[in-house]
Amino acid sequence: MVRRASSMTTQLGLTDRIFATASDRGLAAAIDRGLDQVEADLMAEVTFADEIANVTGRYLLNAGGKRVRPMLALLTAHLGGGAVPDVVTAAAAIEITHLASLYHDDVMDDADKRRGVPSAQTVWGNSVAILTGDLLFARASQLMARLGERAIRLQANTFERLVLGQLHETVGPRPGEDPIAHYIQVLADKTGSLIAAAAQAGVVFSGAPSEYEQPLIEFGEKIGVAFQLIDDVIDLSPQPEETGKVPGTDLRAGVATLPLLRLRALAVTDTSAAELLGRLDEDAFGSADEAVPTAAADAAITALREHPVTADTLAEAHRWAEDAVRALTPLPDGSVKKALTRFAETIVERSS
Ligand code: IPE
Ligand code: IPE
Ligand code: MG
Ligand code: MG
Repeated sequence: MVRRASSMTTQLGLTDRIFATASDRGLAAAIDRGLDQVEADLMAEVTFADEIANVTGRYLLNAGGKRVRPMLALLTAHLGGGAVPDVVTAAAAIEITHLASLYHDDVMDDADKRRGVPSAQTVWGNSVAILTGDLLFARASQLMARLGERAIRLQANTFERLVLGQLHETVGPRPGEDPIAHYIQVLADKTGSLIAAAAQAGVVFSGAPSEYEQPLIEFGEKIGVAFQLIDDVIDLSPQPEETGKVPGTDLRAGVATLPLLRLRALAVTDTSAAELLGRLDEDAFGSADEAVPTAAADAAITALREHPVTADTLAEAHRWAEDAVRALTPLPDGSVKKALTRFAETIVERSS
């Protein structure tokens, strides 16, 4: 617990000497304490009297995770009363919502690994994985219900948007719809919505001034898009030991990612892009049931990683992060604003 919290603030650059005024150090220590409380809540709340649910429900929780959403909620809560009990409860509920979505996502994406362990459906089958996700969604709602109607509405609205994002990703763009615009909307819905809710929850449940709510929703949503764009690049990472995922999982499952969408757009006029797309079609797609990617698939994934479309995707992630930081303009200068800015930079520098 303590190990994770301190490594998170280190990752954030909060302990960096350049930033370490007394106030910054105080904030870093408070976030660490808050993360420990959230962790204790997660361990206590994700328990089921049912023997099977207790094993399957705790499986991915115990496997790890960066706790990015609780950290953001705790950061924005320091615009108000800090890590008060309601903030900690909301942060835990949001993390449990995220956790639940991972069980479902790995079924949809046919992903073999999550957080460095075999994904839940490879251990227990699709039905148990889906039902475990459902149980965790129920648990998240129960926690939010302790905080009243506003929290229930926040949870329900966010969950609806997240699910619509996953649905729109699954069915793809409508005829005539721009695939890249459709895709960015999917990212905002499936990932931006929950990260925005985390940022908002910190403001609302810490009693911070309500004029900070909209800027932080905007910050959270934009940083969520940046976060998910980086996730697309991470899907092409050759370092599964760092990412905890199998390289090319999205590609093989036919999940659209920005590098691939850009390559498709380019392939209309560029023969080398068309040639790479052909290799990806042949060697990387449609082999989701192969536990070990073939050498040809690996080579095609490497070529995509090294193609300018991937550098363009990284540049786009940086633009979203810069826009997110611009949304913080109405906030008072100080440690929280500085830490949120560092948070945005850290998100786009991440490799896991
Ligand atoms: C993974 O989220 C799913 C996305 C929305 C990209 P995280 O990268 O936050 O996953 P954990 O919690 O650290 O495992
Ligand atoms: C996960 O998106 C988004 C949600 C679970 C809502 P991805 O499918 O892109 O994330 P990873 O790569 O599996 O973590
Ligand atoms: Mg997915
Ligand atoms: Mg996935």
